Amino acid sequence: MEYFEKLIDKKKEFLVPCVYHFFQRPPVLVRGEGAYLFDSDGKKYLDCFSGVTVVSAGHSNPEIIEAAITQLRKLQHTTTIYLTEPMLELAETISSLTPGNLKRSFFCASGSEANEGALMLSSLATGRHEIAYLKEGLHGRTKWAINVTGLEMWRTDPNPMVTAHAIPGTRHPESLEILEELLKKRSIAAVIAEPIQGNGGIIVPPNNYWPRLRKLCSQYGTLLIADEIQTAWNRTGRWFATQHWDVTPDIITVAKALGNGFPIAAYITSDEIAAHYTRPGAATFGGNLVSCAAALATLIFHKRHNLGDRSERLGNYLQGRLQEIQARCPTITEVRGLGLMIGVELKDSTKGPAPALVDQILESLKDSGFLIGKSGVGRNVITFLPPLIIEKTEIDALLVALEKALEIRT
Ligand SMILES: Cc1ncc(COP(=O)(O)O)c(C=O)c1O
Repeated sequence: MEYFEKLIDKKKEFLVPCVYHFFQRPPVLVRGEGAYLFDSDGKKYLDCFSGVTVVSAGHSNPEIIEAAITQLRKLQHTTTIYLTEPMLELAETISSLTPGNLKRSFFCASGSEANEGALMLSSLATGRHEIAYLKEGLHGRTKWAINVTGLEMWRTDPNPMVTAHAIPGTRHPESLEILEELLKKRSIAAVIAEPIQGNGGIIVPPNNYWPRLRKLCSQYGTLLIADEIQTAWNRTGRWFATQHWDVTPDIITVAKALGNGFPIAAYITSDEIAAHYTRPGAATFGGNLVSCAAALATLIFHKRHNLGDRSERLGNYLQGRLQEIQARCPTITEVRGLGLMIGVELKDSTKGPAPALVDQILESLKDSGFLIGKSGVGRNVITFLPPLIIEKTEIDALLVALEKALEIRT
């Protein structure tokens, strides 16, 4: 039996059936280097999705791997009940990058867990127990995170555990008026939102949205949680996307690119809010020594190579070139994003979402050696989240392949 068929059979037999892959015949990925991935047949792909915004500093980045291996050889694991240095050094480095008074970190292992912790902290800090969230948002797989995830596709278990109120997303002009009505009527502990909704289809809010949201939350004593799990660490051209609008949330949650592939996540907050959480709170894998060493090396790499500027510059270039393609291609109804977080929305001739076309384009680009992503409420948004180390020439090659795929399919 072929290698591929053997793996698929094992997957069908041993994994919970909720695990799906992109592509009709997914490549078996065996190696990564810089912006490239390689499959078991030796085929090379330009990775334009970064394992969903994770490997911003490139696959198998030698500097990050070296830091992790050095730590691995010394001491791999202790848990937070013992005193170790890497977690403290990482917390201090993070506090030098976060906006305003956000200074204290709680480390854990995944984005869902970071959001779960942030929501719990908002309850502790306010004495309130209800949450508001945006309809096109995604915040994770744990029960509370699912309850505040608006995207229907990811609301695996729709039975609410806490009282959570969905409000229309940032594109709806009435979004904040509806939120204000809710804040007047109910005792809301926190509003949780992604600065740019990633899975929702790379939805960039109007420039005044986050400043107005900040004001409303402060006015009603509600905490503002920014889920920066996709957007942080220079993805949008800033360390944190909320910095585009000069907004300091009460809590920021991070994960994904912080460890460049090593599992690490955190919620970060102020002295004042953190002071409400004094009962013992340990996390077995929180502050894992190897993940912290890798995260520190990741942040050093980002700084040394100015990945924020690079993301902004190359993102503007990619967006501009995509807009040129849009002018020639009526199927593309919108190109949007910030930095190297870019979505291209595709609609069919009736102006309805075109998810099947997106799938065809993904397949075609995969065959040409480019792995891109998809997102959106209608799964009709081609999504570009390449490693921030990508070169301009590689973006040019991607655009040639994309244009070819669009010509063939439209
Ligand atoms: C914005 C956002 N929040 C939370 C999560 C959940 O993170 P994790 O898969 O690490 O639990 C994701 C995952 O894609 C995400 O995109």
